[in-house]
Amino acid sequence: MSLSRMSGAINGGPQSPPTVLVFDSGVGGLSVCQSILSMCPGVRIIYVADNASFPYGTRSESYLRSRIVNVLSGLCEQHQPDMLVIACNTASTLVLADLRQLLCLPVVGVVPAIKPAAETTQTGAIGLLATSATVQRDYTDQLVADFAGHCDVIRVGSSRLVEIAEHYLRGHPVNEGELKAILADFFREGLARKVDKIVLGCTHFPLLKQQLESCAPRHVEWVDSGNAIANRVCSLFKEAGLSLDASHKVLHRIRFTGEAIANKQFHCQLALLGFDNVKIEGVII
Ligand code: DGL
Repeated sequence: MSLSRMSGAINGGPQSPPTVLVFDSGVGGLSVCQSILSMCPGVRIIYVADNASFPYGTRSESYLRSRIVNVLSGLCEQHQPDMLVIACNTASTLVLADLRQLLCLPVVGVVPAIKPAAETTQTGAIGLLATSATVQRDYTDQLVADFAGHCDVIRVGSSRLVEIAEHYLRGHPVNEGELKAILADFFREGLARKVDKIVLGCTHFPLLKQQLESCAPRHVEWVDSGNAIANRVCSLFKEAGLSLDASHKVLHRIRFTGEAIANKQFHCQLALLGFDNVKIEGVII
């Protein structure tokens, strides 16, 4: 699909920088924003967390289909972004095709990075750590069938880890015992081949990468989709002739469909992720 500027005026003024609307159920998609901000300097991000419906991983498919389509149709109408990034594996593996059909702008989805993990594993065994919904999706089965037929794929679904990441970004400590228990299946005795790559198939999980690393009983490589998505965003802007000006002082927006997170720790985390000038708003729908 071609990308074109629909309305500079609605989007923040005739000279507003190339704008991407990044969407997730909660704060997980901020891990994707970190890659976008570092690889596409000058981009403007409007981040929307649908926390009124959080967590997506325990919602029914029919609820999610209509919720996501409704919320995003309204948001695209309101903000007229140049591009939409569905920074949520649980949503992308379900509604990406519907959204691409419905919305008149490029839609980039985040799906578990099974392909790069399967292509580079040395042992022939990879792990998939995602929401319970994502590990069971037909879309995920298809990814495994298409790209990882030669591998053992150990799937672990965890809603708890999503909550832990949400709490962590609000400044709460992470309980290492819980993380070790969640990871245990990847390292259990008796696996025919040792897992050497673990796909972080939920955008919340890269936010905990350091803690996951330190809780793993041996070295593995953690594979997420953040940089691949940021690359795709940059090249779509380029194709469309929308140039990014790194010297432009950009005001980003972080919006919540429910109550906003507004504490100091969250602001510190945002700065670490690369947001240096940001407005936070809650209860937008
Ligand atoms: N961050 C989302 C993902 O990538 C899911 C979180 C949730 O369960 O709401 O799947």
